[in-house]
Formats: sequence, C-alpha cells, structure tokens
Amino acid sequence: MDSKVISIDGLTIGYTKKSPLVEIPSLEISPGEIIAITGPSGVGKTTLIRTIAGIVRPLFGRVSLFGQPFGIRPPRGSLGYIPQRLGLVRHASVLHNVMLGARAGHSSPYRIFPSRKIKDLSLDSISRMGLSGKLYEPVRKLSGGQQKRVAIARTIAQSPQIILADEFLSELDEKTLEMVKTEVVEFVRKESATLIVVEHDVSRARSIADRMLVIDDGRVNPFISQTTALEVTK
Ligand SMILES: Nc1ncnc2c1ncn2[C@@H]1O[C@H](COP(=O)(O)OP(=O)(O)O)[C@@H](O)[C@H]1O
Ligand SMILES: [Mg+2]
Repeated sequence: MDSKVISIDGLTIGYTKKSPLVEIPSLEISPGEIIAITGPSGVGKTTLIRTIAGIVRPLFGRVSLFGQPFGIRPPRGSLGYIPQRLGLVRHASVLHNVMLGARAGHSSPYRIFPSRKIKDLSLDSISRMGLSGKLYEPVRKLSGGQQKRVAIARTIAQSPQIILADEFLSELDEKTLEMVKTEVVEFVRKESATLIVVEHDVSRARSIADRMLVIDDGRVNPFISQTTALEVTK
C-alpha cells in the first residue's frame, strides 16, 4: 500500500485557466503529519484545501488521496473538512451537529453503528472541546469561538484520516487556542491522521505545524520547520 496519504503531482489550482492561482509541482504528505498552509490573503489557500477536498477541480495535474488512482473519491467519512464559515446547522443543538459528524464517519449502508456509540463518541469530543455545558444549546446562540469548537468536535467525532481546517485557530482567546491545539494534535498523533490547516498568522502556523507550505506569488515552497519533513523534496 502507498504510505502517502496525499500525493500532489504537477498541480495548478484556480478557477480559470487564464488566471491560475497556485502551482505545486510535487508534494507528498504522510499519515500523522501536520501541515500549515500560510500566505497572504487572496493568494489561494482556501482554494488549495478545497481542491484537496475534491470540491474544486484542478486546472492541471492531480491530487491523489490514500494512494488511490486519480479521480477516485475517498471512502465516506475519511475526510473531514472544517470550512472557514464552519458549515454548522445553526438552528440545531451542539449535540445534534456533532452527532451528524459521528454518523458520517461511522455508519455506512453496510455497517450500522449503534446509536449509543454515536452518542458516546459525540459526547466525548464535545467534552474535549470544553462544551459539555452547552449540549442542547442551539449553535446560533454561541459565540464565534464556541461555534468553531463545535465544528472541531464534529470533525473529531467523525474520526477522519484527513482533516482540512480553514483558519480554525482564529477567533479563539489565548487559553481556548491552547486547549484546541492540544486536543487536535493529540487526536492527530493518536489516530495517525493527517491535519492540514490554513493559517494566515505565521507564528500560529509554526506553533502547530511539522511542516509549512508558504504560498507566495503563486508558488508553494515547502520548507522544514520542525522535525518530520526530511523526506520531502521539491
Ligand atoms: N468560487 C470562486 N470563483 C472564482 N474565483 C474565486 C472563487 N473563490 C475564490 N476566488 C478567488 O480566488 C482567489 C483566491 O481565493 P482564496 O483561495 O479564498 O484565497 P485565500 O484563502 O488565500 O485568502 C481570490 O482572488 C478570490 O477572489
Ligand atoms: Mg481563505
């Protein structure tokens, strides 16, 4: 089996061939890695993770997930995406939102996961995000930072192998930021999941990443910021 969880080859991203945004000649990402994508506003960071998620089609080149041939969708629930706007069901409760994630990751037409387990998984990730006191609160009544934590709890309850998180560390106060980082990093290390975060703040990006992708002027320069990226070549 291919040990790379994400392989990028000759990729150009953007919305029209006349105005491509970013080129990435080659990039391999391993299970358990934490990658931060950083760069100025409007450069194409969100577009890059939407392309990895399969929401935006590449202009050229390809992204392959889990060593699968190009174009094969990953198994349901294996990819967790936390969009910048969170994508929560705003009128529904914290518990309901997180259970949607747990169900997406653990049920399939062939395998019914007992609802008791779905609920336990959800309660566990809600507690990790410090929201046990808000279980039945409608999401729309929560602060921006609390809503962000609901989105993270939903994704962790899903138990994905890849998490793509867009600016998920912003809008959090110092203490909550540390808590969220600790919990998410622990999840990633324990499950050998791969985390890709978009983070415009370079020092915040550095504080979580094994490796940073700096998008500048339409090119990506992977450079080693901590320990695990030695096999990476450009
Ligand atoms: N759906 C879309 N269709 C066309 N252009 C888009 C779309 N979404 C974003 N863009 C443009 O692509 C560029 C990069 O956007 P984005 O990836 O959101 O940047 P970043 O996340 O780095 O701030 C911007 O110029 C933006 O206006
Ligand atoms: Mg963005």
